Amino acid sequence: MTFIERDGHAGCEPTDKPVELRDGPPAVVRPFEPIPVDELADAYADLDEAYAELSPQTQFHRFLSVMPRLNVALHRRLVDGVDGVDHVALFMVVLPDRGRESIVGLARVVRYPEQPQDADVAVTVRDAWHGRGIATLLLEELMLRRPAGVTRLRTQVSADNAASLAMLRRLGPTHVTKASGGVYEVEVDLPPVSPVAR
Ligand SMILES: CC(C)(COP(=O)(O)OP(=O)(O)OC[C@H]1O[C@@H](n2cnc3c(N)ncnc32)[C@H](O)[C@@H]1OP(=O)(O)O)[C@@H](O)C(=O)NCCC(=O)NCCS
Repeated sequence: MTFIERDGHAGCEPTDKPVELRDGPPAVVRPFEPIPVDELADAYADLDEAYAELSPQTQFHRFLSVMPRLNVALHRRLVDGVDGVDHVALFMVVLPDRGRESIVGLARVVRYPEQPQDADVAVTVRDAWHGRGIATLLLEELMLRRPAGVTRLRTQVSADNAASLAMLRRLGPTHVTKASGGVYEVEVDLPPVSPVAR
């Protein structure tokens, strides 16, 4: 599994779910599989490249801090941490007629160990692809595949991040409280679903 763009991966793998974007090429949602140890360095490099391509505002909205680059702890959390059980991640790949497939968005849900019915959620969509329904489609699928027993999302959102608040409100009854430093604490009660088999 690779993170950004690679030759020779066009076409649907069995776990791909085709989705229709507003105003875009064919696309699929694909699970982020745990990465073999000997491929971790490549995955970190791909992640670094993807992060560097984001605008400063998108970087800030995603991580709520200004970072020139991702650190080792984030590599471990965002790559090694994906186990498909308590930390589930999906990405969206667009499949143009010509050229290489490319990842346009990534969404993850991570169970809080100390409160196993709650999970954090995070989504990143490449800047050029904002506003085409990618986050909505990723989250729809992610909620079906969320860790078993998770009934509530709990996360922090920058107060100026209207898109993120709108995207979260779509998922269920939402409670927003103001925390310090221009950040909202957001809780979303999730409607019950049977998580799909992974
Ligand atoms: C937040 C983010 C993931 C949304 O992705 P997206 O693919 O553009 O979102 P969608 O097109 O699915 O739209 C989701 C909702 O946001 C609204 N929206 C999108 N862009 C918006 C904007 N610039 N301002 C206000 N609302 C906006 C859409 O209208 C939609 O709301 P609706 O369902 O009520 O119509 C994307 O903007 C992003 O990557 N931001 C930086 C990282 C981030 O903030 N992540 C979330 C916190 S972890």
